Amino acid sequence: MYTGRTTLSKFLIEHLQDLDDGGQLAGLLVDVAAAVKTIAALTGRGALGGHHGDAGSENVHGEAQTKLDVLADTIMIEHCNWNGLVAGMASEENEQPIPVETDGPVGRYLLVFDPLDGSSNVAMNVSVGTIFSVLRHASSETPVAADFLQPGVRQVAAGYAIYGPATMLVLTVGKGTHGFTLDREVGNFVLTHPSIAIPPETSEFAINTSNERFWEPPVQRYVTECKAGATGVRERDFNMRWIASMVADVHRILMRGGVFLYPRDFRDPTRPGRLRLMYEANPIAFVVEQAGGAASTGRMRLMEVVPEDMHQRIPVILGSRAEIERIERYHGEYEQGTDKPYRSPLFKERSLYRAEV
Ligand code: AHG
Ligand code: MN
Ligand code: MN
Repeated sequence: MYTGRTTLSKFLIEHLQDLDDGGQLAGLLVDVAAAVKTIAALTGRGALGGHHGDAGSENVHGEAQTKLDVLADTIMIEHCNWNGLVAGMASEENEQPIPVETDGPVGRYLLVFDPLDGSSNVAMNVSVGTIFSVLRHASSETPVAADFLQPGVRQVAAGYAIYGPATMLVLTVGKGTHGFTLDREVGNFVLTHPSIAIPPETSEFAINTSNERFWEPPVQRYVTECKAGATGVRERDFNMRWIASMVADVHRILMRGGVFLYPRDFRDPTRPGRLRLMYEANPIAFVVEQAGGAASTGRMRLMEVVPEDMHQRIPVILGSRAEIERIERYHGEYEQGTDKPYRSPLFKERSLYRAEV
């Protein structure tokens, strides 16, 4: 029995009908959902699909591409390549904007995506995802790179798909964050998680601690305090998780709270962070904010950063609001030097804090 269930199409019609070009935005999001279903079918074949392993190429970030990175990128492009909706696309896997086949006026939207997030996990059968962001294209000209350099606050829609035990599509059009589960037998996305709300308080953090020696002092301070648990200033125990698939880590935070950090670090001075502002940070920040959470660089709201380069990297700190406010406060105290008591030798002894500050 499928009566009474809200499918993605019904949801989009209801939520976008007050927009001028709501029908077009709905059409684009349905195309994205179709691409997601195709990628789900492909990743769901696992080793049987014959697509595990490296493609033998590198992307613009100097990262080895897996075969599935390349395939997922092609699937996204092929499903959304229509000037009736889209003026241009940009992807983590392509150095330049992707031209859209045109048979008339250029479309109203720009589509930006990370076709396969967490792809180093895919051959291990660990959850991966697709992240996407929709921006407006104001001009009637074919877009160039500069047209994509819009801050996250200008996004009109964003979301991600997670290819886990179930495939889910989690999206926002600026009216809350909503989760749809793919009913594989009938091929529909069904609204299963309306109005997702991230709990404001949490006792769970996610960070790759192998980078600890490269972190800035305020992040070292925060994680040290979490690890001190009930015996430290937080006066309660914390749990830690790290999947190395941003989509999967963020999805857990949307479901039960938590904080995710891929902060600025000094491993490679040319890189102010690991994650990409346009393909990863901004769309996830929009989803998180619309679910009542917060997303920051540590120093400012992520979605207010004006991109200077399509492939720019950025520190990402997001999740339960109270924790993000605390981490921002720690960055501020560090900048002003008012975290000195924390950085005193006495504190270091008590906390085993060993950063050179
Ligand atoms: P991608 O697979 O698109 O390159 O993204 C991987 C990202 C993100 O998903 C994850 O949080 C992070 O890289 C993991 O990085 P580490 O391997 O440094 O932990
Ligand atoms: Mn990614
Ligand atoms: Mn990727």
